[in-house]
Amino acid sequence: MSDGGFWQELVGLGNKSRDIRSLIAADAGRFGGFSARFDDVLYDYSRTSLTAEAKDLMLEFLQARGFEARRAAMFAGERINSTEARAVLHTALRLPEGAALVVEGEDIAAQVMADRAKCFAFADAVRSGAIANAKGEAFTDVVNIGIGGSDLGPAMVTQALGGFVDGPRAHFVSNVDPSHVHDVLDALDLSRTLIIVASKTFTTQETMANAAAAQARLAAVIGETSGHFAALTTAVDKAEAFGIAPERCFGFEEWVGGRLSVWSAIGLSVMIGIGPARFGEFLAGAYEIDQHFQTAPLEENMAVAMAMVGVWHRNGCGFGTRSVAPYDQRLGQLANYLQQLDMESNGKSVRLDGSGVDYETCPVVWGSTGTNGQHAYFQLLHQGSVEPVEFLVAARRGGHEEQHDLLLANCLAQAQAFLKGRTREEAAAQLKANGRSAEDIESIAPHRVFSGNRPSTLLAYSELTPRLLGRLIALFEHRTFTESVFWDVNPYDQWGVELGKELAAGQLDAVRNPNAEIDPAMAGTLAHLRRLREA
Ligand code: F6P
Repeated sequence: MSDGGFWQELVGLGNKSRDIRSLIAADAGRFGGFSARFDDVLYDYSRTSLTAEAKDLMLEFLQARGFEARRAAMFAGERINSTEARAVLHTALRLPEGAALVVEGEDIAAQVMADRAKCFAFADAVRSGAIANAKGEAFTDVVNIGIGGSDLGPAMVTQALGGFVDGPRAHFVSNVDPSHVHDVLDALDLSRTLIIVASKTFTTQETMANAAAAQARLAAVIGETSGHFAALTTAVDKAEAFGIAPERCFGFEEWVGGRLSVWSAIGLSVMIGIGPARFGEFLAGAYEIDQHFQTAPLEENMAVAMAMVGVWHRNGCGFGTRSVAPYDQRLGQLANYLQQLDMESNGKSVRLDGSGVDYETCPVVWGSTGTNGQHAYFQLLHQGSVEPVEFLVAARRGGHEEQHDLLLANCLAQAQAFLKGRTREEAAAQLKANGRSAEDIESIAPHRVFSGNRPSTLLAYSELTPRLLGRLIALFEHRTFTESVFWDVNPYDQWGVELGKELAAGQLDAVRNPNAEIDPAMAGTLAHLRRLREA
């Protein structure tokens, strides 16, 4: 199938099949055909305009793109990150004890187990107080200093698994804005705080500036700081040069991408918080999805279904964004996490062979928890532009079932409202039933019309546990990969971010040096800022 032909055909099908309500009315088996299950996890995409014809077309195209071979290449450790000549092996990080994986003659599994064991031993020792401050007092707080993948993963997981934390509390510092590091440290007893500097490269400007600020603060308050620092990095030499003892440096390999690194030493703050055993369950959940992703037939493969819906909405229907709405407060940082996972991976315009794409790639990803979003931007989702919504909800919340029912009911009601909408006649009848005058009805009814027919999907699961969270994140990772195969882009580099880093270095000179040459586009603003700084 030719590339151009596929995209044209997809748009044609997208234009034809916009009426979700009639698709549902016409097919009593729609839920069965447009949902996927893995154990307790359900992905329901029946309330989208995807048709069987479009699904067949997309699966055929995915196969023609070499999806199965590309997937196998990733799991086998081939250097699929072509622009950086690197393997992409985050999946190796969740291999169970005893598994084998040899890549280019190296025993990757053994390396993973050794790195994991070192992190687990350290986490256990911090939790038990065996590793403590100079006075022998146990650490009460852990501050993870990192940014991007060295922050978003552990921060999101820490909040998500808040109910399982029984170790020192974790805090996160990412922004180079000095307020961030100082506000966090201000609130802590520094004598009982462990600082973890998380940076794959150990060169990231924000992280290095924050680590230096933390080091200076601790030195001023408690004097000797080395017992209060640990590093998570692939550049152990740089961490040692910063002053962190080698036995406090936790390594991982260059084949772990930043946004896929929560399973590695980057998850140390989580391991300390919930303990190695629960972290092991988190890894096991992801491993189960890795197996499902590799072995389930494409028609039943949940990550493939999620990717098909993503590409259908982006390319078949032309939607520019996808909104993530977890009806699960502890997933409050999921949208931030997915922004990096999806947009840093697939926000690309160059194909693997270097040619430009002539179709859209990753949509803008945004969102927040329900029910909060309902009282903020859902108005637009009901009556403004059409943006697909991805709901997530748990079936239960141990110990608080009655209140959880309210959450669940709201989630289902929103999905239903997006689908059904309300006609003018229905709006008028409702106003009439409320005793409004004919004149009122005439003027108000149009404002209470909802077009409906707005797509949404739903990921439903039993309860947010470490295992379930591992499953969810792995599903999202594999969706990102599968979408990248559709779009034929390399999801594992991020040259756009590198550009920002290069330009920031130039602007620093302009900010600090009054004689620096200034780009005319910035001259006016910079002159204003300089005046304010000198005042
Ligand atoms: O945002 C770009 C990026 O390179 C991410 O991919 C990475 O997660 C982040 O910077 C942090 O990098 P590091 O872990 O090397 O400090």
